[in-house]
Amino acid sequence: MNKVYINASADYVGQDVTIEGWVTHYRSSGKIHFIVVRDGTGVIQCVVKSPDALLEGVNNWSELSQETAVQVRGHLHADKRAPIGVELEVESLKVISLSDNYPIAPKEHGVDFLMDHRHLWIRSPRQAAILRIRAAIIHATRQFLDDNGFIVANPPVITPAAAEGSTTLFPIDYFDDRAYLSQSGQLYMEALAMALGRVYSFGPTFRAEKSKTRRHLMEFWMVEPEMAFCEFEENLLWQEQLVSYIVQYVLETRHNELQTIERDITRLQQVKPPFPRITYNEALERLRSVGFDLKWGEDMGAPHETALAEMFDRPVFVTHFPVSLKAFYMQPDPQNPELALAADMLAPEGYGEIIGGSQRIHDLALLEERIRQHHLDPAVYSWYIDLRRYGSVPHSGFGMGLERVVAWICGLDHVRETIPFARTLNRLWP
Ligand code: 4AD
Ligand code: MG
Repeated sequence: MNKVYINASADYVGQDVTIEGWVTHYRSSGKIHFIVVRDGTGVIQCVVKSPDALLEGVNNWSELSQETAVQVRGHLHADKRAPIGVELEVESLKVISLSDNYPIAPKEHGVDFLMDHRHLWIRSPRQAAILRIRAAIIHATRQFLDDNGFIVANPPVITPAAAEGSTTLFPIDYFDDRAYLSQSGQLYMEALAMALGRVYSFGPTFRAEKSKTRRHLMEFWMVEPEMAFCEFEENLLWQEQLVSYIVQYVLETRHNELQTIERDITRLQQVKPPFPRITYNEALERLRSVGFDLKWGEDMGAPHETALAEMFDRPVFVTHFPVSLKAFYMQPDPQNPELALAADMLAPEGYGEIIGGSQRIHDLALLEERIRQHHLDPAVYSWYIDLRRYGSVPHSGFGMGLERVVAWICGLDHVRETIPFARTLNRLWP
């Protein structure tokens, strides 16, 4: 028995094979039965032409309801009309398990209904294709960083203090103490960079943001590289190379999936370094020229990010933000200490910020001052401050939000489809 996955079936034309999967569609034209089967790797049409074909588990071919699990044996023929170029002529079909009244019929359902049935919705070709592209993005990220000497290291998820501002912390009971779910592993990655040189983490992070936008999740996955002996400019080089590598890898290896979700890839093909860089001040001027009235010191919102990104054919860095807009740990610009050596990478096509990064303060006195200015408790950060006591060096890093990258590369309206089970403001189910 030659068991094959559907996406590899074209290599077995002319052979007898077995395919295991789920029925997505059944139709009949009198004597001939057509059964479309999916197995997670692809979809194949199985045709029953001979009255001698064996059917095991049910009495009639027409009982093969949507999502019934089956094992199909037959002969693979080349077929130019089939999307994958092959068709299976059925010799026998065995029902593994029947499916009764599958709730997601091939008709339009509302998003709420589909999200309530997310545990089943992920079986649809479109959702499965998105998750396969997500997996490719994860693979490319790790491959790029591993191949460039970054050591994967895992910061804790349960933390005693804020990394990115106390307003979005998820508190948890830690026996007699209060702890929080991690907003970012960055502070720990700084310690690890001093131990290992170049490091990265890749894990879930949590933001108790009361924002109900297309870009915000309460739980999302972040990649956080951190590099010792690395200053602001070099940090940007790593970011544009990583993002370009990811996009090109997805274009090369997930062509079918991009087609399934009908992604126009022409814009993605342009994603190659170098990416344009504009300062916050230049961004304000550009925004004013297209009618936005953003005052110096004000943060950019989604409409501003979208308008800026429209002006370029690939992702763009916005650099040198006012210190007041950014986190306590960011290194001030030596030319102008009102500005932080920070950069956001904005994705094209309205997807907004996909990366936030900066050079970190390495000077002990300055860090202590910033912690006071931000009304943070120095005792809580004592271990972090320690890193500035024992061979402190310039260092930089960044955080890339996986779901934002998936949304952009897949061209999705909302991040809820970029992760298997989204956690949004109004959803903790399934
Ligand atoms: O800009 P952020 O908040 O930066 C940090 O957390 C830094 N400590 C990272 C670092 O330098 N190591 O978040 C980084 C990225 C954002 O650019 C965005 O892509 C994503 O994480 N992100 C979110 N994605 C989905 N839902 C949310 N609520 C997100 N918040 C941030
Ligand atoms: Mg940010």
